[in-house]
Amino acid sequence: MKILVVGSGAREDAICKSLLKNSDNTVFCAPGNDGMKLSGIKTISIAEDEFEHLTNFAQTNAIDFTIVGPEDPLVNGIVDFFKRKKLKIFGPDKKGAQVEGSKTFTKKLMADANIPTAKYQEITDLETAVEYLSVRASFPIVIKADGLAAGKGVYIVQDLDSGLEVVSELLDGHKFNTRKIVIEEYLDGEEFSLMAFVDHKRFYPMPLAQDYKKIFEDDKGPNTGGMGAVCPVKNLSSEVEQMAIDTVLKPFVHELYQQGIRYTGILYAGLILTKDGLKVIEFNARFGDPETEVVLPRLKTDLSDMIWAMLNHKKIEQIKWQNSGLNLGVFAVSQGYPQNPKSGDLGTIEQFLDCPLVINYAGVKKVDRNLVSNGGRLYLLQTVGTDLKDAQNLIYQALKKMKSENIFYRRDIGKNSI
Ligand code: AMP
Ligand code: GLY
Repeated sequence: MKILVVGSGAREDAICKSLLKNSDNTVFCAPGNDGMKLSGIKTISIAEDEFEHLTNFAQTNAIDFTIVGPEDPLVNGIVDFFKRKKLKIFGPDKKGAQVEGSKTFTKKLMADANIPTAKYQEITDLETAVEYLSVRASFPIVIKADGLAAGKGVYIVQDLDSGLEVVSELLDGHKFNTRKIVIEEYLDGEEFSLMAFVDHKRFYPMPLAQDYKKIFEDDKGPNTGGMGAVCPVKNLSSEVEQMAIDTVLKPFVHELYQQGIRYTGILYAGLILTKDGLKVIEFNARFGDPETEVVLPRLKTDLSDMIWAMLNHKKIEQIKWQNSGLNLGVFAVSQGYPQNPKSGDLGTIEQFLDCPLVINYAGVKKVDRNLVSNGGRLYLLQTVGTDLKDAQNLIYQALKKMKSENIFYRRDIGKNSI
């Protein structure tokens, strides 16, 4: 089949690599990045928001179907646009993508489906926010911009003064274009991710994964787009996994259908195991990044066949996953990331080609015979080991051989999964 993947990060690289396991597939990535080309992925210089160009490309090249990686095009209606042109595309339409695009929409769905999540209050004006924080809130508390904020619209505030500063930035300064905020209860516990393939009423869960979000070891410092991930999560029992499927995924998929939303695509649940039980932190309308980089390598069934079946609303009889070993992915990021990523040389093309592990490329570009940084998260090294120690040894040995001046990485990714 001929497949177009939309996006430019390590997640899209992993999706392309998974599709290329079937040698009959031809895979294009728009816009992709220069690193992906090293592994034979054909990149097309069309940006993810150029829907007209993307559909023209799909028509001219007889693309069988398109897969959308990032949230922005989904929330902005790329699926509706392709469908109007009778092109097959895997992802939720604009209505379904609200599960990620609007926190209040998703909170309402969860309330209707009786799915446990943090208690929250929706607020649109500064005066009410100030009153809420001053009189009713207990700290720490979480303040979220309603809408897409590239993962930056979540603030965990420890006291009233910082809370007042945040609500003023959001509702008075309209940072991230915010018109509405959600103030919610702070949840404490272990976070993990459950993704599923969804086709209307049917859903097929993937194995649990865990993303390491903080920039520094021991989960210190500011949040990032994700510094690495592990799959499976060895310290979470199969009971927890089943509970996540039964009490979150199943009722949410059912509720979407009940409310008239015909969701086809990936659904991502960000979950937390608190002392009061399992709760939802967020839903996303797409594959997680970097979870996808460690989950998809464990898929033994042909990804293109599965997506084709879902696009035609046919039941997938069986999905096979690797059930031994542990997949680990560690991101090399720019020095200074996430606040002030500095750019620099990352090493020769040969250095990357010689790496014995899988590399999923993100913010890199080619200059002469080298790759140089072009963003905060640069590339992710991924491998499978017999256990965490084995996988970490393989990854960190390979990372040691990479040019080190302009990269930074955490040395404890996967630490909980023992
Ligand atoms: P989100 O963009 O909603 O995924 O939030 C980003 C990160 O903020 C999450 O992965 C959590 O680590 C943290 N977070 C969000 N909501 C809460 C909450 N209610 N309690 C504690 N941490 C939270
Ligand atoms: N890993 C978190 C996300 O993809 O949103």
